[in-house]
Amino acid sequence: MTITLALRASLLHFTDDPAIHESAIHWHSDGLLLLNQDKIAAAGDYEALKHLVPEHLSVQHFPGEIIMPGFIDTHIHYPQTDMIASPAPGLLPWLEQYTFPTERQFQDPAHANEVAGFFLDELLRCGTTTAMVYCTVHPQSVEAFFTQSERRNLRMVAGKVMMDRHCPEFLQDTAESSARDSEALIQKWHQRGRQLYAITPRFAPTSTPQQLHLAGELAKQYPDTFIQTHVAENKDECAWARALFPTARSYLDIYDQVGLMRPRAMYAHCIWLDDMDRRRMAETQSAVALCPTSNLFLGSGLFDFDKAEAAKVPLSIATDVGGGTSFSMLQTMNETYKVARMGGRYMPASSMFYTATLGAARAMQLENTIGSLKVGNEADFILVDPQATPLLARRNRHVNSLEEQLFVLAMLGDDRCIAATYAAGKLVHQQ
Ligand code: GUN
Ligand code: ZN
Repeated sequence: MTITLALRASLLHFTDDPAIHESAIHWHSDGLLLLNQDKIAAAGDYEALKHLVPEHLSVQHFPGEIIMPGFIDTHIHYPQTDMIASPAPGLLPWLEQYTFPTERQFQDPAHANEVAGFFLDELLRCGTTTAMVYCTVHPQSVEAFFTQSERRNLRMVAGKVMMDRHCPEFLQDTAESSARDSEALIQKWHQRGRQLYAITPRFAPTSTPQQLHLAGELAKQYPDTFIQTHVAENKDECAWARALFPTARSYLDIYDQVGLMRPRAMYAHCIWLDDMDRRRMAETQSAVALCPTSNLFLGSGLFDFDKAEAAKVPLSIATDVGGGTSFSMLQTMNETYKVARMGGRYMPASSMFYTATLGAARAMQLENTIGSLKVGNEADFILVDPQATPLLARRNRHVNSLEEQLFVLAMLGDDRCIAATYAAGKLVHQQ
C-alpha cells in the first residue's frame, strides 16, 4: 500500500444510520487518516495505524480538530448566489421578483463563470465537497459550472434547468430544445472526471406535459444520471400544479407518470406530500432533499419527519440557496433540528451529521464513492475546529459526550469551524 498523505486528528464518520445501529458511529479521539493519492487508504486509531506511515512521510498533526467526510448538499442553485436573502411574501412572488431576473444574466458565459467560481469556493469554505446543483435554462451556464468544478477536481452533480412555460420569455426553452441540450450536456459532462449530470425540470408548473415526458425519456435512456426537481414546497404552488395537471393523482404523481421517479432522483422540499406519495418515494428509491432554512425563510411549511421515517423515504438535507439563507451545512443542521422539534421530534446530532454525509451519499447511490472515510472512497474530507469562536471554545469546556460536542457544533457552528477542506486528496480551502 502506498501512502502519500498522513493526517492525525480526531476522526468521525459513519458506516450506517446511527439511529438504527449505534455502532455505526466511528469515532477515534486520536485518529489517523492515510491517503493514497486521491483515495482513502486507511482511517482509524493513531496507535493502530502509525506503523503504516512510510519513514520519509511526516504526519501532519491537528490536535483538537476533527476530520470528517466533506458535507453533501443535495439541493442548491448556483445562479442564485447573488440574490440570497431577498425578501418576498412566499415562493411564487420571490421567483417572479428576484429569481427570474437574476437567472437571466447567465446567458453571459463570463458572468456564469465568475459566479460559478465564487459559488464553488464558498461551498468549500463551508466544508461542502459535493452538491446537487441547478444551473439556469442556458446551456452555457452548465458549461461554466462544470468547467469551474473540473478545475477544482470536485465531485459535483449539476444540470440545465428545463422550463418551457409560465416564466419570462427570456428564460424559456422548448420541450425539444431542452431535451436536445440536456442530452448534449450528458454526453459531454456525465462521468467526465468527477462531474455528474442531473436532468433538471425546474418544477411541474414551468414545464409542459411534453417537456416532462421528454425528461422522463432521457431519464430512462441514461439510467445512471441524476434527476432533480421541486415538489410540494408551498401551498399555492401545489394548487397551481394540481390545476395544470388535473388527471394526476397528486403533485408528485405528475413526475411519477412520466418516469421521473427512480434511484438517483432528488425531490426538493416534499412538505405537502400524502401517504401514497411517501410510499412511492420509498418504492422507487427517490430521495427527499429537505431544505429547512429555505422552508422557514419562505414560510413554505414544516417537513414531517415522522411520516417520512415511517414510510422509509430516503432523506437528505440541503441548503437551497438562494431560497435558503446559508451555505453552511452546520447552519442547515441547526434549522433541521428546529423543524424536527416543531413536529414534536428530537433529532440527535449524530443523525444530522450522518444525514449530511453518508446518508446523502446513500440517497444519491454514491456511498461507494463519497460520504465516509471508507477505504477506497474518494478523499473528500474536512478538518473541523470545534473551538473556532470564543463562544464555541467556552461552551466546549462543558461538553460531556461526543453527542453533546456534535450538537454544540451543529447549533453554534458555521464556516468559521471549517479549518480546511480537501477534495480528491488535495487541499482546496484553508482558513
Ligand atoms: N420552485 C421552483 N423553482 C424554485 C427555486 O428556484 N427555488 C425554490 N425554493 N423553489 C422553487
Ligand atoms: Zn430549490
